[in-house]
Amino acid sequence: MDSNHPTLPEKSHCSPEKAGNPDVTIAPEDRTSDSLEPEKALVSTNENGDGLPNKPKKSVKMPTSEDTTESQSIKNTAVLKPSPSVHGNLENISPRNSTNGSLMNSDHTSLLDEAWENLKKSVVFYKGMPVGTVAALDPSAEALNYNQVFVRDFVPSGLAYLMKQTPEPEIVKNFLIKTLHLQGWEKRIDNFTLGEGVMPASFKVLYDSQRGKETLIADFGGSAIGRVAPVDSGFWWIVLLRAYTKCTGDHTLSELPEMQRGMRLILNLCLSDGFNTFPTLLCADGCSMVDRRMGVYGYPIEIQALFFFALRCARQMLKPECGGKELMERVDKRVMALSYHIRSYFWLDHTQLNNIYRYRTEEYSHTAVNKFNVNPESIPDWVFDFMPLKGGYFIGNVSPARMDFRWFLVGNCIAILSSLATPEQATAIMDLLDERWEDLIGEMPLKVTYPTLEGHQWRIVTGCDPKNTRWSYHNGGSWPVLLWLLTAACIKSGRPQIAKRAIELIEQRISKDGWPEYYDGTTGRYIGKQARKFQTWSIAGYLVAKMMIENPSNLLIIALEEDKKIAKPRLTRSVSWTC
Ligand code: GLC
Repeated sequence: MDSNHPTLPEKSHCSPEKAGNPDVTIAPEDRTSDSLEPEKALVSTNENGDGLPNKPKKSVKMPTSEDTTESQSIKNTAVLKPSPSVHGNLENISPRNSTNGSLMNSDHTSLLDEAWENLKKSVVFYKGMPVGTVAALDPSAEALNYNQVFVRDFVPSGLAYLMKQTPEPEIVKNFLIKTLHLQGWEKRIDNFTLGEGVMPASFKVLYDSQRGKETLIADFGGSAIGRVAPVDSGFWWIVLLRAYTKCTGDHTLSELPEMQRGMRLILNLCLSDGFNTFPTLLCADGCSMVDRRMGVYGYPIEIQALFFFALRCARQMLKPECGGKELMERVDKRVMALSYHIRSYFWLDHTQLNNIYRYRTEEYSHTAVNKFNVNPESIPDWVFDFMPLKGGYFIGNVSPARMDFRWFLVGNCIAILSSLATPEQATAIMDLLDERWEDLIGEMPLKVTYPTLEGHQWRIVTGCDPKNTRWSYHNGGSWPVLLWLLTAACIKSGRPQIAKRAIELIEQRISKDGWPEYYDGTTGRYIGKQARKFQTWSIAGYLVAKMMIENPSNLLIIALEEDKKIAKPRLTRSVSWTC
């Protein structure tokens, strides 16, 4: 066994997955069995559970223990080729061959070099292995919890390492294994124990100088503002595991019994039967990227789209053993129900808005048109002006008598990436971005939510949160990290020009401004009030966006092709549908 390589929590084949499994209460850091083989020649196999044609795989060689240094080099032997398999017009984009995926323009090359340099600085090592990246490296601000590796923040970092011309998948593999270890911890807040499958929001490496020992400390939401467990972490973990598998062709990692078990635990958490009448997942406020109270409780699109994405990714990787087969069936059913529900009830365009505006209320029985008894008076004024004749989007939330009409970029982009959005809906979302550029992209991309909450609404919805004041932070602030999601969604819908415009805007300022976490103001003109500088996911998000726009086949590492088995709902048509 190579002690420099991460070990997996020791689990017997098909170990029980119910609460009380003694294995999970033991901090797995002390375990030393079941190490991964240190060196593997990763040969492509045909994975195509999603119906994608053979993806162009990067052929990579995993490093030996001697290579496990910051400057390790993993030799690749194949260059990605553009693939026409994505439903957009990928053929129209000519990928350029360049170092680190840079543009030929020297300013932009240096910007990319600067970004890579900063990303490398953010790498966190544990027992000599790269295991993640810190959230921010801002020497001028108090670290708070920004010195931790956040699971969601690591996704763009991991993708950057997978997409670079000479891929470095080792950090992603280590991260996936380490976070799996942490999932095995007993998670307790006061006297209450959290679900076994919950993945941490973040972790950090503590160095005990007296004992000369490093240990990992994880937070499952217990130390977070508002004490909310991250629902998104487990989903992102699954998505990243699939991205790793897709990029490297190494199925051995996802097929390990321990990884399979980790996946089953996450899925069991969100597929369990209950009182639900909807296939969507009931969430607490603050359980995802928007991790403070912002009225995002209930059935937020951000989580629903990610849930759908993770279900489809897991479906490709699940093995039938140890209850996996039964789980696959549950996943299939949920994917169907979820897509129908979201595509039908979360969708808003001009026609649908007009329908809601004319809704009757108090309808009983199955024939009800206004299924959730939404009162038309609850439609906020701004939506009527905001909604163009051409375009549409998935609204923020749908539950009884409540439609949150706000725009959430993460949910809409993930809906496109995962093919939760039909091709027509994806086109309409792109049309909306075009039509409402000033509002949604502005001067510094990209608005995380639109519009802002202010005055009385801000007081009651955010609980007077001084960080989420109007047009700031999660409340209508602009987040450069979202560039990678936008770029992926644009390429997938055949509209890369939209992403290119946004990338150009970012390039004008981001380095001068010190790679901030977020911008404030109606158009994002000002560096955020409390924004960290050198925020890692701003840096990684830019790199991933660049590598995808220059080599669109990189998109296949992350995106899912449409599942033809999923029936499309019959929807009313707005102007944008016919374009
Ligand atoms: C903030 C963000 C959260 C992010 C964390 C670390 O709390 O709201 O989404 O994960 O910072 O960057």
